[in-house]
Amino acid sequence: MSVFRDDVLADKVALITGGGSGICLEITRKFMQHGCNTVIVSRSQERLDEAAKSLEAETQGRCIPIAADVRDIEAVEAAVDKTLEAFGGLDILVNGAAGNFLCPAAKLSSNAFKTVLEIDTLGTYNMSKAAFEKALKHSGGSILNISATLHYAGQALQVHPGVAKAGIDAMTRHLAVEWGGANIRVNAVAPGPIGDTEGMRRLMPPGMKEDLERRIPLKRFGRSEEIGDAALFLSSDAAAWITGAILVVDGGSWMTTNNIWP
Ligand code: COA
Ligand code: NAP
Repeated sequence: MSVFRDDVLADKVALITGGGSGICLEITRKFMQHGCNTVIVSRSQERLDEAAKSLEAETQGRCIPIAADVRDIEAVEAAVDKTLEAFGGLDILVNGAAGNFLCPAAKLSSNAFKTVLEIDTLGTYNMSKAAFEKALKHSGGSILNISATLHYAGQALQVHPGVAKAGIDAMTRHLAVEWGGANIRVNAVAPGPIGDTEGMRRLMPPGMKEDLERRIPLKRFGRSEEIGDAALFLSSDAAAWITGAILVVDGGSWMTTNNIWP
């Protein structure tokens, strides 16, 4: 059962990048359970189709799957156009698409560094710009960026996503200031380690789970639906006067675990 009213996003339309898997699939589910129609965007049409089908079957809402690479500005603009054709508007953008892997800075190729920056930071900019130009500047709305806490203490083996997410945090504040006058709120959620996600499968060295959980102040990994609750709050009218905020949702993890692993 949700702690939020069922209709808290009634008649809203959200576009969620990365919405076909992991944390952003849970954000999409949470939005749809609270009255929102959705568009999910990522590279794999097959994965998106499957996710949209099951989300529509379990909620009252509609979910349209659109394949696009967030690095490709034309594909991103086309995804916003299709959203407007299908629903007649766009109220909420969630920028969740990202790429990551563990790699020492000295072993990272220039292209590997660039690739993660382009997916995370440039992708967030591309989507935000397309949504602003085509919809949000006319109607107002909310942009929610999915950040991380890697850069707070300079986590080892994570210079590429750390720099990318630091850029996203900066973008959150810049766009909050620049677009506030158009009644657009721009915020971010910074999740800590979320169990059973692709991010954790890629980043968690074997045998570290128990040790890491023990060191987190709240003694466990997060759940994707807990990021969904934070996303729902920041995207709803309950956060009507919140902009430029970066909400850390991590059980206190960054204060005690950054750089213990590995
Ligand atoms: N370690 C070091 N370098 C790596 C790497 C790894 N594990 N995986 C990829 N790279 C390098 C590649 O070698 C390539 O560099 P090169 O041209 O110098 O050889 C560069 O990164 C780009 O790789 P490519 O596979 O062409 O990129 P892509 O755009 O197809 O995929 C990734 C992007 C690499 C981020 C891929 O892992 C991905 O699609 N991730 C999405 C899912 C994900 O990461 N989820 C977790 C989110 S937190
Ligand atoms: P995930 O399931 O792998 O999510 C990443 C999504 O991004 C996938 O749906 C992927 O779909 C999409 N994507 C990747 N490259 C793309 C591109 N170029 N264009 C469009 N879409 C692209 O991983 P997750 O762990 O749930 O992570 C979700 C978000 O939470 C990310 O922003 C991540 O940085 C953040 N985060 C996660 C954790 C964690 O513990 N898991 C912690 C902190 C922050 P396709 O492959 O179909 O493109």
